[in-house]
Amino acid sequence: MVSSRIPGLHQLDRMGRLQRLHDAGWLSDADVESLADGRALDSTRADKIIENALGVYALPFGVATNFRINARDYLIPMVIEEPSVVASASHAARIVRAAGGFAASSTGRLMVGQVQLLEVPDLEAAEREIRLHGDALIGLANDAHPAMVRRGGGARGVEVHHVLADDGEEMLVLHLLVDTRDAMGANTINTMVEAVAPAAEILSGGRACLRILSNYTDHCLAGASCTIAADLLTSGDYDGRQVVDGIVAAGRLAEADLHRAVTHNKGVMNGVDAVLIATGNDWRAIEAAAHAYASRSGRYRSMTAWRKDEAGNLVGNLELPMPVGLVGGSIGLNPGTRVAHALLGLSRAEELAQVVVAVGLAQNLGALKALVTHGIQRGHMALQARSVALLAGAPSAEVDRVAKELVKRGDITVAGARELLAGPA
Ligand code: MEV
Repeated sequence: MVSSRIPGLHQLDRMGRLQRLHDAGWLSDADVESLADGRALDSTRADKIIENALGVYALPFGVATNFRINARDYLIPMVIEEPSVVASASHAARIVRAAGGFAASSTGRLMVGQVQLLEVPDLEAAEREIRLHGDALIGLANDAHPAMVRRGGGARGVEVHHVLADDGEEMLVLHLLVDTRDAMGANTINTMVEAVAPAAEILSGGRACLRILSNYTDHCLAGASCTIAADLLTSGDYDGRQVVDGIVAAGRLAEADLHRAVTHNKGVMNGVDAVLIATGNDWRAIEAAAHAYASRSGRYRSMTAWRKDEAGNLVGNLELPMPVGLVGGSIGLNPGTRVAHALLGLSRAEELAQVVVAVGLAQNLGALKALVTHGIQRGHMALQARSVALLAGAPSAEVDRVAKELVKRGDITVAGARELLAGPA
């Protein structure tokens, strides 16, 4: 197994990092070439992907190190414009790694398609008919998408839901449960629900209105957890036990207070979205599902749970709907996405779902640890100082020295960095 613990990676310049990851076996020649040239999605292709395309828009592509999930090392591709996120995820993953790594799992991978049925004369009778003919409906759905069936997927079940509209009308909604294998499967599901809708109308005596997938994928969940001994959380003057108590207290606020819950969850999604974007997944769908899942008790709450066990360890959990795909959609059209998949080296979408949730948990741990100790500004300032030193023309070997001195002087400006680089007058 190639190790994701790569000390000093952040101190190298970009080409040095590519070389190091290549030498360690993480990147192939083609991956290095693609990243070195900043080879982006080409505009001819972009023109075929969306309407009225004018060009392409690039974002930084980085890697978080130190991740060990279910006893396997991963280098995590992250696409994000915000400084500190990659560093914080890597820092948290290093602590969790020392504690044995993340444990991650998933609960199935069934997606949901909905058929809304209006003007149903007898709701109970309609439900009975639909249930009775469930296998026939599944057959119709599968006939509409033989390619998915050939790949080993297909419709697996039918559910009937009664939904009370705000105006008091009760509607019947048919749910088609679909195994989309390693694809997110939006097109497959939409094709299938359109195919079963006429039969659902006949069985219910009603009229089909919406026929569309649901992004609330509560039959496709992934979870990650970690258990960290307090001494691994010691940070400068902060004793590990203090840090455990601080993180548990921060978690309790996020459980109980909407203002904090949203910020807490935004931090989780910093990590989740960065991996989803890097891997070409539909992050809006997963954002929507994640926030809805955080509200499943009837109140919006924190996505993660942090508690202290009897031995004083910090125990963290995160479970989210995670309908990611490894194939299909626009995955594969973007050279960056291809490198992200090569770095992860996954064979199943379920594994990607577990990786994404582990990154979300790490991201939350990194933010909370900083917040309950020295605060997040110190780390931000240090990163900002590095960028400023680089902007002032510092050679790689000088960047850290100059950045440290800028932070010490409290003068993080290009002029200050130039002065330091010029040496004493
Ligand atoms: C910043 O992008 C994310 C944080 O605000 C998350 C948090 O407060 O937990 C640091």
